[in-house]
Amino acid sequence: MCGIVAYIGPKDATAFLLEGLQRLEYRGYDSAGVAVTGKPGTLKVCKTKGRVADLAAAVPARFKGTTGIGHTRWATHGEPSDANAHPHLDNSERIAVVHNGIIENADALRDRLTAEGAVFRSETDTEVLAHLVAAHVGEGVELEDAVRAALGHVVGTYGIAVVDAAQPDRIVVARNGSPIVLGLGEKEMFVASDVAALVRYTRQVVHLEDGELATVRADGFTTFTEDARTVTRQPSTVDWEIASYDTAGYEHFLLKEIHEQPASVERTLSGRLDERFATAHLGGLNLDARELREIRRVKILGCGSAYYAGEMGAQLIEELARIPAHSEPASEFRYRNPVIEADTLYVAVSQSGETYDTLAAVQEIKRKGGRVLGVVNTVGSAIARECDGGIYLHAGPEISVASTKAFTSTVIAFALLALHFGRIHDLSPADGRRIVAGLKALPDQIREILAGEDKIAELAAEYAQSEGMMFIGRVRGFPVAREGAQKLKEISYVHAEAYPASELKHGPLALINPDLPTVALVPDDELLDKNLTTLGEIKARAGRVLAIAHRAPDAKLADHAILVPRSEPELDPLLLNIPLQLLAYHAAVALKRDVDKPRNLAKSVTVE
Ligand code: AGP
Repeated sequence: MCGIVAYIGPKDATAFLLEGLQRLEYRGYDSAGVAVTGKPGTLKVCKTKGRVADLAAAVPARFKGTTGIGHTRWATHGEPSDANAHPHLDNSERIAVVHNGIIENADALRDRLTAEGAVFRSETDTEVLAHLVAAHVGEGVELEDAVRAALGHVVGTYGIAVVDAAQPDRIVVARNGSPIVLGLGEKEMFVASDVAALVRYTRQVVHLEDGELATVRADGFTTFTEDARTVTRQPSTVDWEIASYDTAGYEHFLLKEIHEQPASVERTLSGRLDERFATAHLGGLNLDARELREIRRVKILGCGSAYYAGEMGAQLIEELARIPAHSEPASEFRYRNPVIEADTLYVAVSQSGETYDTLAAVQEIKRKGGRVLGVVNTVGSAIARECDGGIYLHAGPEISVASTKAFTSTVIAFALLALHFGRIHDLSPADGRRIVAGLKALPDQIREILAGEDKIAELAAEYAQSEGMMFIGRVRGFPVAREGAQKLKEISYVHAEAYPASELKHGPLALINPDLPTVALVPDDELLDKNLTTLGEIKARAGRVLAIAHRAPDAKLADHAILVPRSEPELDPLLLNIPLQLLAYHAAVALKRDVDKPRNLAKSVTVE
């Protein structure tokens, strides 16, 4: 999704802008651009459809300035093109604006501004901002006042950065529903929509709140509200390692992130297991045992893989704590006037902490007086800040568009929450110890699965040639099937459908043929016999079966099997999912896909 970077300081801004944009490439985009100023009255702009590398090649040698803004665009209004790429300018080419989000009243503003003489050169909603700001700057008007006045006419969401060729000593930024982070340097300042662009330069950051603006100068910043009240914002320190933003010798970020899971799972668990009382410590919940005992239901909200991780979480909470729990896509929940109950605990799940639908769901719950916990990877992100408490994943930055290590850490976080809840309710100490031991064993068990990668790669290359794939699982296995199908679809573009194994004969069995193989989750649990019967039904219709199992099914029931180590039955889904990540990855590689940046997708979906 769109990315913003900006720089002001003694150095040439262009180098930082291009590198910062390159660090935001993982978010997904289709065009990029930069604008720099320095000497009053000069504004240089370069923008192009395509990659940041194309932009870097197009930037002229004499393109220099000490104040600059840059952008990667993911098209919403108008096709990807040079003209629609940001920055956008006003008629006199004095004001340049980059923008993430959507201006909902752009059409009405465009008509009004056109009538007043503005000449539009793009189809974007963003261009109205450039003309609007220009309409408010004039002799003696500070840029921040012009931006504030312009935003007073705007309905929609935005993170923006604005420069004025007549006031090159400042950048004005504003946030409403789309993140803006200020990075504090030594006599220089950075701005980005994502800390990934900043960490090479500074660890001291300030996250703007919705409704806030900032004037950023080389020697500092001031933050203020839409009604011009100054607010004091203290910097926080980013603790993510710079190395996390490199592939560290792996061919893709996705493969690196899959292989990081033993370590990221250890970090998610670190300091949170209490062997003495066979429970989990979760300091950030902001709920004591008495308050937790009053909770009668848990409602989990997230989008895409976060929603599927929530389904696994709901299962864990029901099994370990015996509290009814349910996961729902946040994107649906927010539009259906949901009933918010005082004795329900709402849990918002998001790797990025920026997903607009999930954020909007949290805001809707809070507006109605509900209590929301966040299960979030990105510290200080919008969703984390909006929630009443929560669990940080500590999985480290996830760069590849497809979620793997954050997915696994989310399910671990739910296992901890379920254990904590369970031990407050009726989960016995013996069962608590069983789960604690099971969680501690996971990193080594994941290592064992990853060691079998070569065989999975071979199978992936073979199965990737099919016309599509069916993923089936029963009860605990069904969310695993859904996540497995999602992963395959998004990075290999092979069509995949997930079904509860129990539902196969109620419809999709009609699809079974040798070209539509089935990936079946077949743990050695109380439903094993039922699952084996389903495999028999598929084989009887000449279907091919790849089983993900603890024990290889009879050769008459499965053509191939990938074996995973046994965990506790409640935790088995975590391990069953790991081979499916590798299967999707190697299928995508075999089909020569753009693994880390699949077509049409973005890492964090910050628009509706
Ligand atoms: C995961 O592989 C997908 N790219 C996508 O479904 C993602 O999980 C979803 O957009 C939610 O993102 P979030 O966790 O950052 O909120």
